[in-house]
Amino acid sequence: MRKYENLQYIHENVLKPRAHYVPYDSVEKALSGDKSKSNFFVLLNGEWDFAYFERDIDCPENITKWDKIKVPSCWQMIGYEKPYYTNVNYPYPVDPPYVPDDNPVGVYRKYISVDHEQTLRENYLVFEGVASCLELFINGKYVGFSTVSHSTSEFKVNLVEGENEILVKVYKWCVGSYLEDQDCFRNNGIFRDVYLLSRNKGHIFDIEINFDSNGIYYDGKYTVYNAEGKIDNLANPILWNAEKPYLYTVIVEQAGEYIPIKIGLREQSVSEKGELLINGVSVKLKGVNHHDTHPYDGYAMSTEFIRSELLKMKQLNINCIRTSHYPPQPVFLELCDELGFYVIDEADLESHGFANRHANGWGYDVSDMWPCCDSMWGGAFKDRAERLYERDKNHTCVIMWSLGNESNYGENFALMSRYIKDRENNRHGIKRLIHYEGVYPNSPVQKDVPEVDVVSRMYWLPTEMIEYHLRTGDKRPMLLCEYSHAMGNGPGDVVDYWNIFDNNDFMIGGCIWEWADHVAPNDAGMLCYGGDFGEETNDGNFCCDGLVFHDRSFKSGSFEAKYAYQPLKTEYANGNLTVYNKYDFTNLNEFEIIYTVIADDKEAKSEKLYLDVKPHSNTVVDLNIETPNCCYGSYLNISMLKDGYEVAHTQHEISSAKPIKKGVSAAKIEMKDRYAIISGDNFIYKFNTHYGYIEDLDGYLNSPMKLSVWRAPTDNDRHIRLKWQNNNYNKIHNKIYDIKIEDNTIIVHAGLASVSRMNFINYTLTYTFWNNGQIDVELNGEFDQSRIFLPRFGFEFTTQEKSFEYFGYGPYESYIDMHHGSKMGMYKSTAEKEYVDYICPQEHGNHFNTRYLALGAYEFVSEQGFEFNVSEYSKEELTIKSHNFELEKSDAVNVRIDYKVSGIGSNSCGHELAEAYRLNDKMISFKFSIRKKCCEN
Ligand code: GAL
Ligand code: MG
Repeated sequence: MRKYENLQYIHENVLKPRAHYVPYDSVEKALSGDKSKSNFFVLLNGEWDFAYFERDIDCPENITKWDKIKVPSCWQMIGYEKPYYTNVNYPYPVDPPYVPDDNPVGVYRKYISVDHEQTLRENYLVFEGVASCLELFINGKYVGFSTVSHSTSEFKVNLVEGENEILVKVYKWCVGSYLEDQDCFRNNGIFRDVYLLSRNKGHIFDIEINFDSNGIYYDGKYTVYNAEGKIDNLANPILWNAEKPYLYTVIVEQAGEYIPIKIGLREQSVSEKGELLINGVSVKLKGVNHHDTHPYDGYAMSTEFIRSELLKMKQLNINCIRTSHYPPQPVFLELCDELGFYVIDEADLESHGFANRHANGWGYDVSDMWPCCDSMWGGAFKDRAERLYERDKNHTCVIMWSLGNESNYGENFALMSRYIKDRENNRHGIKRLIHYEGVYPNSPVQKDVPEVDVVSRMYWLPTEMIEYHLRTGDKRPMLLCEYSHAMGNGPGDVVDYWNIFDNNDFMIGGCIWEWADHVAPNDAGMLCYGGDFGEETNDGNFCCDGLVFHDRSFKSGSFEAKYAYQPLKTEYANGNLTVYNKYDFTNLNEFEIIYTVIADDKEAKSEKLYLDVKPHSNTVVDLNIETPNCCYGSYLNISMLKDGYEVAHTQHEISSAKPIKKGVSAAKIEMKDRYAIISGDNFIYKFNTHYGYIEDLDGYLNSPMKLSVWRAPTDNDRHIRLKWQNNNYNKIHNKIYDIKIEDNTIIVHAGLASVSRMNFINYTLTYTFWNNGQIDVELNGEFDQSRIFLPRFGFEFTTQEKSFEYFGYGPYESYIDMHHGSKMGMYKSTAEKEYVDYICPQEHGNHFNTRYLALGAYEFVSEQGFEFNVSEYSKEELTIKSHNFELEKSDAVNVRIDYKVSGIGSNSCGHELAEAYRLNDKMISFKFSIRKKCCEN
């Protein structure tokens, strides 16, 4: 057994975990928080020597050939090894505590020069994150060894005056890797900050500061500062909450060191109803799961990058972060304190792969094979709890300690929980909750064990949560630590969740899975996902499941979440607008609230509202709006702004679309061979009576207007697509039974079937042609009752026209269940702009509830509304290509005029698409008109 396979050696000569801090040599420097100013702190990031060996046994005593590497970094992102993405499956056999015989090692070397004064101090080398383990040597002498990738390893070191060699051997795998089976690229290296602390003799080691809404409690010499300066007493303190994160700086002084620790004062408790109370107020967690992932740097994330991420989360009204599935780097929590987030801080622990150790998938069986059940692993589990808790205990933002993820449940989790509970119970101030979702699988009574304070589930339906709550009488708060799987085009269900969370006290919210797409570049620099790097096992694009793209840009799903999480709700009836303030601590008088009445493309009225609405309360305003005249719809838009940024918006329909006018006089229809030639005022149309479709509209069409049902499956369609494919919905045949021409109408009786399957719809399609060029289209049909719901149903054609204007849900792509981030309105766009750059190509760019589309010389209008899509790519192209960079544009623009398009949901990992969003109609009646642009309604 090699050392790194031995559970006795999870750390050697590593200091006990302590609170994260940096000591300074003056109060002023400490207050500045600028580490680089501290005489006691030397950041060792930057260029290091590096030598990589595919097998650790090939690493010589004296390495003669060195490359250069940037620290922090992940060696897979620099070209040593290819990136490797796997979700549940371990990237090696499940044979604990052993790892593969060939274990790569990366050796890092740096020379630092130390002056005489520094040698007189006590010196420590601190590593904030190294995967998977490290061995440290100073000046050729072994110092120690440490595991637990996402935790701090601190070593006391002896340095000599002058040059000192720091040598760090980082092994790819160790026994700890079995506890780090998180769903992400499996990277290695020194991926977080490294620094030297040269400290005064007699310095303090650990610092524990307790706090609540009354004060700060600390056993030792300290001073409290606010932004203005020193404060002598904390009577009537300003409290911290995620909306208004007020922080005090505590300076702990000992042995000539000044150590700043920022503290926010707050309360935390659980009400009898299971609410989460922050400062006595029931708060809902509008959360997201955050992994450390950067498209080019892997796990290494700069402070600026993290800050920009957190600010983007703020823009989406997110107030809670679960640090899935390990403690983030310390600065992440400092920023959460500063910017205001409730954090569920998770231990570096996941052993999901044990569920897949049998080919037939035994899942969460009760077996000693699971590390959580085997006492051999007890020390490692407890260590991970201790490292999480002790490092982060002083952080105001932390509201829950999470014991890990997807690792089954056994006594070793109880050990972790007991450790944290003991620590919390012996604290003077607030007590944070213990979270672990994995308690559930093995619970014999189907009820969570008392070791957790929160009932936490993944991807459950709200109905399942209610059922659990009622059946068990469990009064603990209920959280969805993961929900609304945001993969690809999606998520489509987040608003529905919130309608239920908002109405159930015990449901304290949830965290969307997950924040950002994980990608890595291939040799050509293209951003790729699992399977693109020749991995022995991989989970494809399951790593591209972010609420934001890899560059953190927003997609329609991001705006959907933003809407679900927004602090504003309004109702409108009889001229009265009721405005609800859903903030917990913020008055609406801090915002600019504007209401605007739109009628088609015009703004009929716009006014500012000055609303003084306290948190969790509401007000009614009489808006005195006259119903404006409109063709396609009139809406009342409410927009809530802060510094020009729209924090929230709502919309109410004032009047709906008017009936579409019929033409006055009939067009002429003449038969010519198999064609009906339709003519009128300056136009000639061509109708193919053999196939029953319009083939030419004065040169507008590049291909006939045909019915189809396929869409390029989204990631959220990954299960249903198998059924769709089995139904051959991508291979459909239109059969014309009969065509009648009567005056200015053509009536088609027909059916649609997939190859080898019976008809799924029989329909009558009536075209009425008018002298002004208008065509009224009416399709009435009856679906086969046994069929599986359709991806979509409607007409498709191609044209050369690229630019268009529409009245419907925009400007983002919108679907029946994913349109809340958009607004009904008149928008201009182009085929090119409609493209949404999902790494794995899929259906996108739909516009739900459209009443008007003007594309080139023709308009498509419907009183009942339709859905449309204008794309440079065909659905076939989007279906077969597996990377965005492989896509080829069609020769013409692809247009869809759809009766309906099925919703989006989040079935990539969540539950099936809700019935209400499936295109499952029995009878359909679809009416719309095509008319020349000059026509008036
Ligand atoms: C969950 C897991 C996450 C992630 C997600 C799928 O089960 O906790 O880590 O794998 O599924 O994207
Ligand atoms: Mg997992």
